[in-house]
Amino acid sequence: MSIRIISDPAVVQAKAREWKAAGETIGIVPTMGFLHDGHRSLITRAVEQNDHVIVSVFVNPIQFGPNEDLDKYPRDLDADAAMCEAEGADIVFHPEPSDMYGEYFSTHVEVDDITSVLCGASRPGHFRGVTTVCNKLFNISKADRAYFGEKDAQQLAVIRRMVRDLNMDLEIVGCPIVREEDGLARSSRNKYLNPEERKAAVILSKSLNKGKALLDSGERSAQALIDTITAELKTEPMSDIEYVSVVDSITLKDVEGDITAPVLVAIAVRIGSTRLIDNFSYEV
Ligand code: PAF
Repeated sequence: MSIRIISDPAVVQAKAREWKAAGETIGIVPTMGFLHDGHRSLITRAVEQNDHVIVSVFVNPIQFGPNEDLDKYPRDLDADAAMCEAEGADIVFHPEPSDMYGEYFSTHVEVDDITSVLCGASRPGHFRGVTTVCNKLFNISKADRAYFGEKDAQQLAVIRRMVRDLNMDLEIVGCPIVREEDGLARSSRNKYLNPEERKAAVILSKSLNKGKALLDSGERSAQALIDTITAELKTEPMSDIEYVSVVDSITLKDVEGDITAPVLVAIAVRIGSTRLIDNFSYEV
């Protein structure tokens, strides 16, 4: 395998410095590993658009709550590195938590408002962990562009906001959701589903498709949309709804009344003990 797997942030940063000095562009694909076709699409896009690509594989402890799945989060570095190499990335950056959060670590980056709704409501501190690690990854990689999936729509909105608010000098590229044949959005957490739960999980995309069809038919009431998606989700006995929300694409505030501006329609649903999210964006 010729791809370089590097754990030391300073080594990656030195390489990035060399590339920049030669006038070459860098793309970063931040991931927590256990890569699937969704990640592959990000890496492919990054390779197309940049001279060099760094894929970070780091299960970031500070974005997990105390009762979340940090310890059991799936890992497979060999398979991840093979995918990165096949797609043409240059470096897999795979630090240890101690490489990223050394002794006396005490600086965090926090985006207000839009981090306390949707997933942020049930995952306090999660987005603070995400924005802090992304900041570090952007600084280490000196990236011109960073690639994120639209499946984590709130994460993408939060990162875009951070980059704009802090005048960070890189472009954030959002890439479309990649789905399984039956519609389930690709996610490393799909691995937790047993066969019965896996079948049930298709209800997420099915319910969103119903919602999209309602909007296509001309319905504009946010509540009617929420009701339709909720009713469809409830047809699956294994689904336990955390939220069904219709929010403004920029502010992530709930839409009251009719939809008149671009919206994000987002859901979080537990199937068994696995929390899954999905969404679509809609412009009226
Ligand atoms: O989406 C993820 O996998 C993570 O939240 C990210 C962006 C890699 C930060 O740890």
